[in-house]
Amino acid sequence: MTTITTRGASRRGLLAAGGAVLASGLTRPAIAQGAPLKVGLMLPFSGTFAALGENIAGAFEMLLAEKGGRLGGRAVQVVRLDDESDPSKAVQNVNRLIGRDRVDALVGTVHSGVVMALVQASRERGTPLIIPNAGNASATRDLCAPTIFRTSFTNWQPAYGMGLALARQGVKRAAWITWDYAAGNEAGEGFRDGLRAGGAELVRELKLPFPETNFQPLLAQIPGLNVEAVGSFFAGGGAVQFVREYASAGLRDRVPLVGSGFLTEGTLQAQGAAAEGVRTALHYGDGLDNARDRAFRAAFQERTRRTADVYAVQGYDAGQLLSVGLEAVKGDVSAERELVAAMERARIDSPRGAFTLSPSHNPVQNIYLREAKGGQNVVVGVAAEALADPGTGCRMRAG
Ligand code: PHB
Repeated sequence: MTTITTRGASRRGLLAAGGAVLASGLTRPAIAQGAPLKVGLMLPFSGTFAALGENIAGAFEMLLAEKGGRLGGRAVQVVRLDDESDPSKAVQNVNRLIGRDRVDALVGTVHSGVVMALVQASRERGTPLIIPNAGNASATRDLCAPTIFRTSFTNWQPAYGMGLALARQGVKRAAWITWDYAAGNEAGEGFRDGLRAGGAELVRELKLPFPETNFQPLLAQIPGLNVEAVGSFFAGGGAVQFVREYASAGLRDRVPLVGSGFLTEGTLQAQGAAAEGVRTALHYGDGLDNARDRAFRAAFQERTRRTADVYAVQGYDAGQLLSVGLEAVKGDVSAERELVAAMERARIDSPRGAFTLSPSHNPVQNIYLREAKGGQNVVVGVAAEALADPGTGCRMRAG
């Protein structure tokens, strides 16, 4: 395996580039016998989600290294591109990977807005895409396609589990606070649906633009809402700051804070005592008692000097899923029908626990209830077992 880092879009380049996903006249890369298979890793390596991108890339590359740098018999070359979680640069960044770097497959990204450019490219060009984080519902609902797979979640899934768990604990009224973009809003819908399924109600949504962190005006409204809990979606650097400010505003002991698990994932060290006791729901957690997870975490720590988290798991599983597909076609990505069929049938032996894919190519997985204790997101129960996203509106044309 080799890795190269490619430059992402600059503001100047963007002005010249226009908006179409792909310049016409570009052809899919030829599968020259013996040529390395190029995988474009489009992820944030800067900005509020930088740590998430690093863990996804580090674990994806670890899986490749475990496979001797080859998938389906072909040497793999990884091309890393920093998308900065900036939707305005997304189309040009995808075009660079496909048009200039001539990648054979795409793995990306973290941000739900940015991923839409990858989805569009995969639909138009047939380039296989594995989404190792971004939970945008469209990718596996109305815009689903044979070549689009996800090893992470829909934004709806973890938040649904959290809402349901809260309602089962007897909470009747809750509020939601988030960044105003696809991930925060769709997670809000999941939270509302989970609350409703348990007989509770979402009474208010508070929002600020992504990736802003001016939380104070929103926090000031919470005491007046007459709610028993506040649910939230924040992640990365923004989540660190939010959890700290929620505690220092004196709210933590008055209105319990809960969330999609990203709120405390990979962030606990920086959040410190402010996160203690915060309950979240996610498809991963600390203390899952399985040997696969223990081995994965030790190997990841050893290789990257970083602590594994859900993002690392999702990146590793993107590698596992790609490996299953490429084995089936002996590295020939142009054999789309067989590649897709093998990936659809895959049972991924994930550190989170084994999972399969729904008909719309999204993981069917347990959503764990976790509680932040002493720097760990300790699993305290299962909020929703083998939860599938509804996949509403996905009409998959025959592969
Ligand atoms: C998203 O934009 O879909 C997103 C970003 C960060 C997360 C989870 C979801 O931790």
